[in-house]
Amino acid sequence: MSKWLDTGKIDFYLNVIHPAIPFYPEMLDQMISLIGPLGKKSFRFVDLGAGNGPITQKVLDEFPDSTGTLLDFNPEMVRFLNEQFGNRDTITIQNQKIEEWDPTPCDVVVSGLAIHHLTDEDKQECYQKIFSALTPPGLFLNLDLVTLNGFLIQELSHQDFLDRVYSKAVEKDETMDRQSFQKLSDKYIDIHEDTLTDLDTQLHWLRTLGFQQVDVFFKYYKFALFGGFKLP
Ligand SMILES: C[S@@+](CC[C@H](N)C(=O)[O-])C[C@H]1O[C@@H](n2cnc3c(N)ncnc32)[C@H](O)[C@@H]1O
Repeated sequence: MSKWLDTGKIDFYLNVIHPAIPFYPEMLDQMISLIGPLGKKSFRFVDLGAGNGPITQKVLDEFPDSTGTLLDFNPEMVRFLNEQFGNRDTITIQNQKIEEWDPTPCDVVVSGLAIHHLTDEDKQECYQKIFSALTPPGLFLNLDLVTLNGFLIQELSHQDFLDRVYSKAVEKDETMDRQSFQKLSDKYIDIHEDTLTDLDTQLHWLRTLGFQQVDVFFKYYKFALFGGFKLP
């Protein structure tokens, strides 16, 4: 069973791991800035691997009349999504795998820290579906984990993140020492569940599909915000 289906992990993820993601709020601000040039006050968006909905929340804070489809394969996350957005008739929540997403026309596709769970083949298929679904001018933004160019920088990045998670864990429980943290991180931070792909390859896939102005809009070690436009 995937650890994403284990509620202990969800608790640790929401309270300790997620708040430790470096520059997450800045990356969400950047997403909003990039939506601006589309010139639409409201639009149809899709949030792939929506989790408990932080990206959707940000989009709706800035563009409250937008219509969203939120997709996640984890029933616990879908429960959070229903609690938070279930009473809005402009929001559709789907308990589904990204790999099985059946796209309908939309203006913006966002995804946060989810597509890296897909194999390279499924990532490419997902990007193809996104490109086909977007109505120009449309935008795809993926805030995700990527591989880095070499094990030294890879290790530095992972250690930097573990230190940030440890600081958050101590904020939540000041009795937490390195030894107990090690046990928790061994249990809940499993980098082997990830199937990361390097940025250059993913940018190349996007350009080949026809995305324009493909770029990396924010990057800190293995955390990257990248994507592109589908222009008329
Ligand atoms: C790290 S969380 C990020 C959630 C949210 N997007 C955010 O930025 O905080 C990744 C989410 O992707 C979902 N996920 C992972 N693999 C998935 C897949 N193959 N299909 C659908 N959802 C998936 C997980 O259930 C989880 O809710």
